Amino acid sequence: MPRSTSGPPAPAAVLCGLAGWVPPRVVTNDELAKRLDTDDAWIRTRTGIRRRHVAEPGQATSDLAVEAGRRALDSAGGPPPDTVVVTTTTPDRPCPATAPVVAARLGLTGAAAFDVGAVCTGFVYGLATAAGLIAAGAARRVLLVGADTYSTIVDPLDRTNAIIFGDGAGAVVLRAGDPDEPGAVGPFDLGSDGTHEDLITVAAGGSRQRSTTAEPTHAERHFAMRGREVYRHAVTRTAASARTVLSAAGWQPGDVDHFVPHQANLRILHSVADDLGLPRERCASHLETVGNTGAASIPLALADAVARRRVAPGDRLLLTAFGGGLTWGSCVLTWPSPADTPRPERITP
Ligand code: UT7
Repeated sequence: MPRSTSGPPAPAAVLCGLAGWVPPRVVTNDELAKRLDTDDAWIRTRTGIRRRHVAEPGQATSDLAVEAGRRALDSAGGPPPDTVVVTTTTPDRPCPATAPVVAARLGLTGAAAFDVGAVCTGFVYGLATAAGLIAAGAARRVLLVGADTYSTIVDPLDRTNAIIFGDGAGAVVLRAGDPDEPGAVGPFDLGSDGTHEDLITVAAGGSRQRSTTAEPTHAERHFAMRGREVYRHAVTRTAASARTVLSAAGWQPGDVDHFVPHQANLRILHSVADDLGLPRERCASHLETVGNTGAASIPLALADAVARRRVAPGDRLLLTAFGGGLTWGSCVLTWPSPADTPRPERITP
């Protein structure tokens, strides 16, 4: 049947709930320096990180996701979601997905539930997935949780990675709405380049390693990153993706009130802001207190900025992420009207 060209536009995903949660245990740079050949000054000047939160032994990604998810649902009010999406690099187990467990623990048994994997770009990919489901009429209300416990995959004695990552979860609720109303998410730019799959990787634990008979080595079981190369890609790919999405939205860089990038490294955030011609003060930054929290970093940074009342209705936001794959993605939204504005609690002091 030919597709109709008239009729109402497809519904958009409108943000109506937001929250973040980090486990209580704090690990400072000085604490890391007791077991690693590093120091507070190196970590602060090279990354902008002062401390991070780390899950207790036995605390899994779903535990963090449930805490953030419950708070996001409370902030949204309204009916329960019909779909739960979790984006993570550290699922509870290879099988099943983490989302059905999170949905069940939130009392949402029966909801569609699945995981999205795009490493640190996962939250932007998850937003695009939720927006697509809503536009297709396959979902009316989506809980999207970005959650990661990198402490479970990073070698605690690897000074390059152990200093960067922290554990945490951030969540949003998206409802079907009008593409022109404040809070509507999009347009999007998504991309990948799998020729660089080895720049960020956990070699063992998947089908590639299991198809051989060799026992994985210590290094193969842990997270590995070629930091300097990733850094270079992160700056160029994020800036290019941000420009693409700004142009699709018809915005100039100067129109952006809040730049909310994946919180990888403060130097990367500032380089991208400089490249786009955005004042650094417009860059939301939360990594000083939580580190790089993977798929949780954008909703955590957003929740932190909103909780500190830095974001006002009508403000224009640019979200952009970069991660393993390589993957990258960006999207924009205008902060919702007062009636629809989610009010998350403060996450860290
Ligand atoms: O979230 C997903 C995407 N991830 C990212 O975007 C992360 C991107 N990369 C980075 O953020 C940075 O590359 C790192 C923070 C990982 C490293 O910072 P860098 O400024 O790129 O340092 P480097 O790797 O170039 O190392 C510089 C020096 C080296 O010593 P030499 O070879 O110059 O003698 C390292 O061995 O710093 C040394 N080093 C350290 N020194 C003290 C590396 N890690 C440490 C450390 N403490 N923790």
